[in-house]
Amino acid sequence: MSQTFKTLDDAELQGKRALVRVDFNVPMADGQVSDDTRLRAALPTIEKLRKGGAKVILLAHFDRPKGKRVPAMSLKPVVEPLSKLLSAPVAFADDCIGEDAARAVAAMKDGDVLLLENVRYHAGEEANDPEFATALAANGDLFVNDAFSAAHRAHASTEGLARLLPAYAGEQMRRELEALDAALGNPKRPVMGIVGGAKVSTKLDLLNNLVGKLDFLAIGGGMANTFQYAQGYDVGGSLCEKDMADTAREILKKAEAAGCRIILPVDVVVAEDLKPGVATDTLSLSKDTPLGDTRKIFDAGPQTVAEILDAMRQSKTLIWNGPLGVFEVQPFDKATVQAAQEAARLVTSGQLVAVAGGG
Ligand code: 3PG
Repeated sequence: MSQTFKTLDDAELQGKRALVRVDFNVPMADGQVSDDTRLRAALPTIEKLRKGGAKVILLAHFDRPKGKRVPAMSLKPVVEPLSKLLSAPVAFADDCIGEDAARAVAAMKDGDVLLLENVRYHAGEEANDPEFATALAANGDLFVNDAFSAAHRAHASTEGLARLLPAYAGEQMRRELEALDAALGNPKRPVMGIVGGAKVSTKLDLLNNLVGKLDFLAIGGGMANTFQYAQGYDVGGSLCEKDMADTAREILKKAEAAGCRIILPVDVVVAEDLKPGVATDTLSLSKDTPLGDTRKIFDAGPQTVAEILDAMRQSKTLIWNGPLGVFEVQPFDKATVQAAQEAARLVTSGQLVAVAGGG
């Protein structure tokens, strides 16, 4: 792989204050970590830094407190399970900037680990405010990003810090980037992409980049509605970015010119409300059968899923970002779950290399 990023092997660690962005946005139940997968994923980086003699200062977000100190969104419950996994003490500071943080950092010895409170308690985090990033940077000599699953957000503790301090990919980030390179740099063809999620506007760069590289691109989720609308279909009261119609048409044109077959829903699951267990209809999408104002599209239908699975079975590489429907609310998880199960089956049987990005 032609590596375009620095790793911990390139860094001088001894005695350095390493600000490490991790993704500790972990599932919690009753104020306790209920799944420690993301904590375990950060261990190789933390251990490598400790062994190298760095002071390990962990930065993370938890949930979406929107710039306010929401006590239920504190990172404090992470301290104990992390400390157990590391078999070492983990200190905690009540704030990620300012005096609290500075005092805690000043008390560290080489090899110590400190977790700073939720970066999203400050509005400057999500706004990628340079002043906030500078306040974070004050506690570090170098920046290590190990939060691949949060790296699609250009926030102060992900993107901003990388501009202010010598920046390195952590071990998890390195592994993910290598897998992504195997899937996109020199992939086994045919290559398929699945891009879903709510909005076209947040994934424009991704879509524009992918259509030039893929053989198949399945578009799902709310953003598929925008594409259908752009082609003259009635999407009823569904989520749809009407002002992105021109952009959607341009992406379709670009895909056609590049020989990338776009798979859009041919049938959809609709309902009046987004509620668990609500009554649904499955409709073929046609320019002659308007959806009406009250029904909304919440998932791709079985015919669409069959097309997606068929393309997946023809592919050797799959890149996936975003769900095909509102998978958080049953029964609108069906298309996403069926596609994921087939991807898992093909990967297990060695027919497919699959990379999933995003949170
Ligand atoms: C996730 O859990 O998906 C990541 O940590 C990103 O979180 P976010 O969607 O709140 O930015």
